[in-house]
Amino acid sequence: MPRIFLSPPHMSGYEEDYVAEAFRSNWIAPLGPMVDAFEREMSEYIGIPYATALSSGTSALHLALIILGVKQGDEVLCSTLTFSASANAIQYVGAKPVFIDSDKETWNIDPDLLEEEVTVCIRTGRRPGAIIAVDLYGQCANYFRIEKICQKYAIPLIEDSAEALGATFNGKKAGCFGQLGVLSFNGNKIITTSGGGMLVSSSGELIQKARFLATQARDPAPHYQHSMIGYNYRMSNLLAAVGRGQLKMIKERIAARRRIFEYYQSTLGGESGITFIPEAEYGKSNRWLTCIQVEPKEFGATREEIRLSLEAENIESRPIWKPMHLQPVFAECRKRGGEISEGLFDKGLCLPSGSNLAEQDLERIIRVIKKVHK
Ligand SMILES: Cc1ncc(COP(=O)(O)O)c(C=O)c1O
Repeated sequence: MPRIFLSPPHMSGYEEDYVAEAFRSNWIAPLGPMVDAFEREMSEYIGIPYATALSSGTSALHLALIILGVKQGDEVLCSTLTFSASANAIQYVGAKPVFIDSDKETWNIDPDLLEEEVTVCIRTGRRPGAIIAVDLYGQCANYFRIEKICQKYAIPLIEDSAEALGATFNGKKAGCFGQLGVLSFNGNKIITTSGGGMLVSSSGELIQKARFLATQARDPAPHYQHSMIGYNYRMSNLLAAVGRGQLKMIKERIAARRRIFEYYQSTLGGESGITFIPEAEYGKSNRWLTCIQVEPKEFGATREEIRLSLEAENIESRPIWKPMHLQPVFAECRKRGGEISEGLFDKGLCLPSGSNLAEQDLERIIRVIKKVHK
């Protein structure tokens, strides 16, 4: 049986034309007209005026922290339930992550715990350098609350929307919240450039700074002159060509992922002991990955038994992110709460969710899962 992957790339067919155009024009070097056009088209899609295309979502997070002035020794509050890149970037600038637990209703950062932590920090004279809110598995965090907290205590906000392109919150698209939004076009994301990312913002000044730092911080001079440490973080023109072809199909890709979620829900929702990642009323998830929770006593098998049964049939699935406060590398970091994300990790599984999954793939997956506890 061919392998079913968790979230493989899904080419639209438009990519080849754009890549051929880049070759024809000899814009192979980093930057070029495809990068400019990809930035413009992405800004229009998201509804935010400024964007800069980068080599990864991780580089976007790193630059966001630098630009917002986060420095050595600062504390940065961050969702604990996330991929390590969100927290790694904090370490890159010498700051210290403080991990905040998830809210049961959305699995995203819990605004009550966030506010509790912020008040303690302020009371003890340690204003956080920034807050990183992650839009987990394609769903926006609660920006009604998070933006208020950030404004009240004058703390910069970074929205890590790496997994949430096209999701909405209160009618606005993911990436629009806080000072800077981070996107990823890694191979497993809803659209991909094979590897890539973007920083988006309503501040032209912040994006200008990001562009400057991402292109080796070259001062305006005919020779190479540098007054700051720069980075080689820009996206190549060839990869931006792939991104333009991908972006053309974003609406269809989200619709397909949402349909896959609904298929799982209609076929597995009746099984006792299986529940699905909730969708908050304030917005619409892009359903990047369909995530379930498995209660072993009710279902008759553990999440790990399901995962191993799928693997035995050449089907990839993955446990929910292991919370950052449980990661050995972040063992020394402070945290607030933790039980919710620990429970989600313990019982949670991400099911294959690629927008190119065929009906018979889905049927094959369901057959395996339904057989596990029999
Ligand atoms: C929440 C989150 N943040 C950041 C990243 C990093 O993006 P990239 O892989 O493009 O560096 C990812 C995924 O890869 C992610 O899932």
